[in-house]
Amino acid sequence: MPLVKVKPLSEFPSGEVCELEIDSNPYAVCNVEGKLHCVQGVCPHAGGPLGQGNLNGNYLVCPWHGWEFDCRTGLNDSDEDVKLQTFPVIVTDGDIYVDLP
Ligand code: FES
Repeated sequence: MPLVKVKPLSEFPSGEVCELEIDSNPYAVCNVEGKLHCVQGVCPHAGGPLGQGNLNGNYLVCPWHGWEFDCRTGLNDSDEDVKLQTFPVIVTDGDIYVDLP
């Protein structure tokens, strides 16, 4: 799949999370102090919408039951066997893109 545009970087401040849906698959894009990360958008606990979650430092907090995932690595904060898929994020000419498989 080619790079998929998310939004202009100027519209995505530090500390925010946005939801992206491509071909019915949701993704969560996070801005942690200017560093951008993309993970799968469905929580492995019970299917919560991670793209509607909040950031706690480098951790993306699921809005349903509060599970936390390091958005840099996808790893759950308390169970190393639980890991989100991660995807590369690229900024070109002021726009954010994710590189999806
Ligand atoms: S669905 Fe995400 S913590 Fe329960």
